[in-house]
Amino acid sequence: MAEPLTCQNDEVGTFEDYLSTFDSEPGYLNWAAFGPLSPSVREEIFADADLLGSGRPSSLALVAERIGQAQELVAELLGTDAAEIALQPSSTQGLQHALFGLAGSVIASTAEFPSISLTLERAAAASHGALTPRWITPDDSRVTPDAVAEVLDDDVAALVVSHVDFRTGFRVDLAALRELLGPDRLLILDAVQSFGVVEADYAAADVVVGHGYKWLRAGRGTAFARFNARARERITPMLSGITGAATDGLPVDDLPTAAASARAYTVSGPDTLAAGRLAIGARDVRDAGVAAIETRIQEHVDVILEIADRHGIAVSSPLERAQRAGIVVLSPDEPARLAAALANAGLVVTARGASVRVAAHAGTDTDTLQLLDDALTAFGNETFTFA
Ligand SMILES: Cc1ncc(COP(=O)(O)O)c(C=O)c1O
Repeated sequence: MAEPLTCQNDEVGTFEDYLSTFDSEPGYLNWAAFGPLSPSVREEIFADADLLGSGRPSSLALVAERIGQAQELVAELLGTDAAEIALQPSSTQGLQHALFGLAGSVIASTAEFPSISLTLERAAAASHGALTPRWITPDDSRVTPDAVAEVLDDDVAALVVSHVDFRTGFRVDLAALRELLGPDRLLILDAVQSFGVVEADYAAADVVVGHGYKWLRAGRGTAFARFNARARERITPMLSGITGAATDGLPVDDLPTAAASARAYTVSGPDTLAAGRLAIGARDVRDAGVAAIETRIQEHVDVILEIADRHGIAVSSPLERAQRAGIVVLSPDEPARLAAALANAGLVVTARGASVRVAAHAGTDTDTLQLLDDALTAFGNETFTFA
């Protein structure tokens, strides 16, 4: 078993310590797209790379312990056991393992991030009719219990849904969806926009995928998928590879069945450097406390909503705390002009179509929020001269 990963300096890090690690330049409001790597992740990458560079078996073994550490920490944050966690190169690959092995009707919104919609479509196409998407197009793209209830029948095997929608910022009601689905259907959750920054009963979902390159500040390659016993019973490990076999070590001269644990949903040996980054990112949010992180993000969102309101900019993401997480969606009359004004002011956001997505993290500083306020003031005061 891997050595447990302790806190930095072997002391429980305080929330204030955590906030002080946010060291990117003011103006960064794009956490829903990418999280600049934390100092601890950056340091550990170098340390682990040095160990791998030595070629010593003991050093390689030390870095390999990152796999178990990452599984333990992700499991702790999800309220489950490490054996239910399979490390993945991306959360989309986690969803592929879940959806390619399913049969029956699977409910999903057409407006989901393509990691859900496209994967479901591809899995159905490969299933020779065994898997059928049951698409829904709810109002405002919100996957509410009512929207799901409308299409629920005995053929439905699962619902696949984003915990927090990447485009609208809407947070689903996990408990209500679980109750609606009952014990006989799977709840497959994409927690990319919530893991580590939203306290929730993740154990209510049978499959949970997420990654560390946004809110965990751990870079790409740091994804995971949780498969509980019900999921493992119903999802055939269709994409199971050499690490997924029910054997210790390499299955040579043998064709064993898939492992009983979540390892069945893996293909080959994980990237130990990525596992290390995930472990550090997960440890840092665990030590700081997800509840404290969530509260601070909510406070920042309140400030951003107040700024938008004061400048007369419409907001299309939810206003109620229970329905939102870290994403605010501005829907101004002139989105392209607003996006340009924010970029000119040094603010990093995601501009897409008619909206501008703004996402603050717990460590977002007052200078950044002030920059936003100033940029919106300038945007509102701009006058045009027509030739
Ligand atoms: C909700 C959601 N799901 C999935 C992804 C993609 O995750 P990955 O790159 O780990 O496949 C994203 C990326 O923005 C996302 O926002």
